[in-house]
Amino acid sequence: MSERPAHEIVIASNEAEVQQCYKIRIDVFAHEQGFPIETEIDHLDPIATHFLMRLTPSLTPIGVIRGSKSNETGYYKLSRLAVLKDYRQFKFGRELVEAFHEWVRVDAQKSGQVDGSVKVVCHSQIPVKGFYAKFGYIPEGKEFDEEGDPHQKMVLELPLQ
Ligand SMILES: CC(C)(COP(=O)(O)OP(=O)(O)OC[C@H]1O[C@@H](n2cnc3c(N)ncnc32)[C@H](O)[C@@H]1OP(=O)(O)O)[C@@H](O)C(=O)NCCC(=O)NCCS
Repeated sequence: MSERPAHEIVIASNEAEVQQCYKIRIDVFAHEQGFPIETEIDHLDPIATHFLMRLTPSLTPIGVIRGSKSNETGYYKLSRLAVLKDYRQFKFGRELVEAFHEWVRVDAQKSGQVDGSVKVVCHSQIPVKGFYAKFGYIPEGKEFDEEGDPHQKMVLELPLQ
């Protein structure tokens, strides 16, 4: 494996950075994996927090993850995690998930919850269930179809302390 490139994770804070997040998702989910391009940008995008991983100092985008919170259930949702193919196996996926978890903790604490845990949900593609399991996500219910491909709901009780 080559050396782990220097990088940073930022929360997209302007339209140009949000568009860079969308571009990575389209490259990975539509072009690489064959998911429909029409539904890649969905109803959560306008209300979600978009995390962008980029190389430093070039600021070339290489990875994304999206965080949102359901007003109905109060659960947090992890979605649209992707690292460009050339940059996998450097633990960048792990780092993105950890940045998202830290955001969840801070957001929950801002909302007044100081201890215990909060529920985080994700819809995992079947080949990456083992990736989420490494963080403690547990399968819940049966596999279901999402965008023409089988997925598994995975749930984590994320401790706030
Ligand atoms: C899933 C993805 C984000 C993982 O990113 P990555 O940077 O390659 O993964 P990391 O190097 O951070 O891996 C972290 C750990 O998970 C493991 N892992 C990685 N992919 C895995 C998989 N598919 N199944 C099980 N474990 C996996 C690694 O071996 C590593 O284990 P370790 O920490 O015990 O050594 C990346 O493969 C990707 O973008 N895939 C295409 C898009 C995708 O499928 N997204 C998920 C949609 S639900």
